[in-house]
Amino acid sequence: MRVAMIGTGYVGLVSGTCFADFGHVVTCVDKDAGKIARLRDGIMPIYEPGLDDLVAANVRGGRLSFATESAEAVRQADAVFIAVGTPSRRGDGHADLSYVHAVAEEVAGLIEGFTVIVTKSTVPVGTGDEIERIIRQANPQAEFAVVSNPEFLREGAAIEDFKRPDRVVVGTEDERARQVMRELYRPLNLNETPILFTGRRTSELIKYAANAFLALKITFINEMADLCEAVGADVQEVARGIGLDKRIGSKFLHAGPGYGGSCFPKDTLALVRTATDAGSPMRLVEATVEVNDTRKKAMAGRVERLLDGELTGRTIALLGLTFKPNTDDMRDAPSLDLVPALIAAGARVQAFDPEGMKEAAHLLDGVDFHDGPYEAVAGADAVVILTEWDQFRALDLDRVKLLLNQPVMLDLRNIYRPEDVRARGFRYASIGRA
Ligand SMILES: NC(=O)c1ccc[n+]([C@@H]2O[C@H](COP(=O)([O-])OP(=O)(O)OC[C@H]3O[C@@H](n4cnc5c(N)ncnc54)[C@H](O)[C@@H]3O)[C@@H](O)[C@H]2O)c1
Repeated sequence: MRVAMIGTGYVGLVSGTCFADFGHVVTCVDKDAGKIARLRDGIMPIYEPGLDDLVAANVRGGRLSFATESAEAVRQADAVFIAVGTPSRRGDGHADLSYVHAVAEEVAGLIEGFTVIVTKSTVPVGTGDEIERIIRQANPQAEFAVVSNPEFLREGAAIEDFKRPDRVVVGTEDERARQVMRELYRPLNLNETPILFTGRRTSELIKYAANAFLALKITFINEMADLCEAVGADVQEVARGIGLDKRIGSKFLHAGPGYGGSCFPKDTLALVRTATDAGSPMRLVEATVEVNDTRKKAMAGRVERLLDGELTGRTIALLGLTFKPNTDDMRDAPSLDLVPALIAAGARVQAFDPEGMKEAAHLLDGVDFHDGPYEAVAGADAVVILTEWDQFRALDLDRVKLLLNQPVMLDLRNIYRPEDVRARGFRYASIGRA
């Protein structure tokens, strides 16, 4: 199969590369010329474990190439994937579909022969209908079908997730399109991946339902953590105690500073808008959004409490800035709430993140960035663990204690055992544990 992947970001680059690795011939297109130039030089525009080797191998194999113009790739393609961003529209929380619509307009005139237009971007219900309308209007003769194929990969484990997904969802009413999609994903038959064929609108909604449910699950355990603190219980054990119940499951039950990232915040908001507009409000999701926003804003207060109510003139060492480990993605990361709040309260912030500092430097003013965790900790009045990168899980606590002005640690990811840290003489606080 020949594939044109329009949009070479976190999703497009990983999906395109994995399709090439399946044996298809893929062109990844992006209008960001700098990104394409770097990719042609073998330089990854994002941090994703294993991606550089997989890209290199498939470029060498002649199955993967990069372009700034879509024309040639689209003309030859059996399937054109739309994998551009769908950020929150400023002001109302709707998904901004301007990039998706622009791609539809761009490819409409380029279609030659039966072509499947696949929406991989996360798009609200009815977007497939609109893409179809745009293409039909611009090119009434075009032979095409518009398919929804939402992506469920997680940044940081994206390649594994793409190649071994729990399921693939394909929304289309068109039999020819179904055949093309079956062929594209045929290599997954080996591991018996379920492919769920469904209607296009249903498929579009499945993506939002999945993300909203996961966001709700995280928010549930976060509120449970607050209750644990209030009544003297341990949220880790509550999570384990309920997670062992197969009806509940143990994933996404890690209490923390509130969810962030490129998907949950914008997708929950967009679902709330869709539901409200459809006259069928989703109050659980509305509450999730509100509770999570409030939680992220409340984290600075936890630092303040641990420092006896005084942040002015204090120096805080922040370990981790990205919204989760193994990515450089800073979109809606909890650090974007915490750092400005600390600085507004008069604190100085020294930070280290293994992959996120370049992006963070564009987004956070007034932070001293350091080359490693120990450098960041030196001379600080407290250390705050904000992202659970592996390298923060086994810090030399005696060394940290020596470097700090005073041994104070706030562990917002519960990666240490309170008794271990306290035994070393730290004043220690975490989430949902006495
Ligand atoms: N990041 C994730 O973990 C994830 C997971 C599942 C689904 N999604 C969804 O996938 C979509 C893409 O997300 P992302 O994180 O990859 O975004 P991204 O911002 O990393 O990448 C989007 C890319 O599209 C390019 N682009 C925009 N308009 C273009 C055009 N007309 N022609 C060519 N290129 C164009 C941009 O330059 C950018 O490189 C979103 O809808 C998102 O919700 C993301």
